[in-house]
Amino acid sequence: MRSNRWLTKPSAKSAKPKAVFLVGFMGAGKSSVGRALAVRLGWTFEDLDERIERREGRSVSEIFRDSGEPEFRQVEDAALRDLLKHLSTTDEPKVIALGGGTFAQRDSHEAIQGSGISTVFLDAPLGELWQRCEQQMLDAKRPLQTSKNKFRETYNARLQFYRTASVKIETGGKRIEAIAAEIIQTLGLDQNAVRPYGGNRQ
Ligand code: S3P
Repeated sequence: MRSNRWLTKPSAKSAKPKAVFLVGFMGAGKSSVGRALAVRLGWTFEDLDERIERREGRSVSEIFRDSGEPEFRQVEDAALRDLLKHLSTTDEPKVIALGGGTFAQRDSHEAIQGSGISTVFLDAPLGELWQRCEQQMLDAKRPLQTSKNKFRETYNARLQFYRTASVKIETGGKRIEAIAAEIIQTLGLDQNAVRPYGGNRQ
């Protein structure tokens, strides 16, 4: 039953954190859908890239430019572990948008899967992902959006990880609100998010 996936067994200390991780490639809509989803659920929203930037005191682009991708991945994994620790000590439910590469780094992937928190793979046709990134370029170019070939190669290499997510949601041509509603329905969050684990309902 779908609800059981969400309300899984409590650890010795407390129930599994109420949280959802949004995973997927650049341009998948993790942050915009995550914000909309959090508003609908009355949960807080967190973007892992923002935690990284706070920790480091520099932007993701600056970390890539000045220190390179390997260092970015180390900082990303450390920020993720901070977040997982925080989640295990709070009852505050959270929607978290991961970076496009987080779930595809072996150590980070294992840590996320080990947390037992639901993961939602937001996907779209590659051309649409590229277009969305192009449109957002006005704000800041993504360090890993170089050529279309590299974009495709990276996406294909990461698919094996993205496919291990709890559920996959196709976002191609859909509105943000509709995607958020689909996630709530697919994970059964509408019935279960406000119900404490083991609580009796009248
Ligand atoms: C990355 C995606 C970015 C950011 C960094 C690396 C990636 O996040 O974490 O530039 O490896 O795909 P978004 O997916 O939010 O763009």
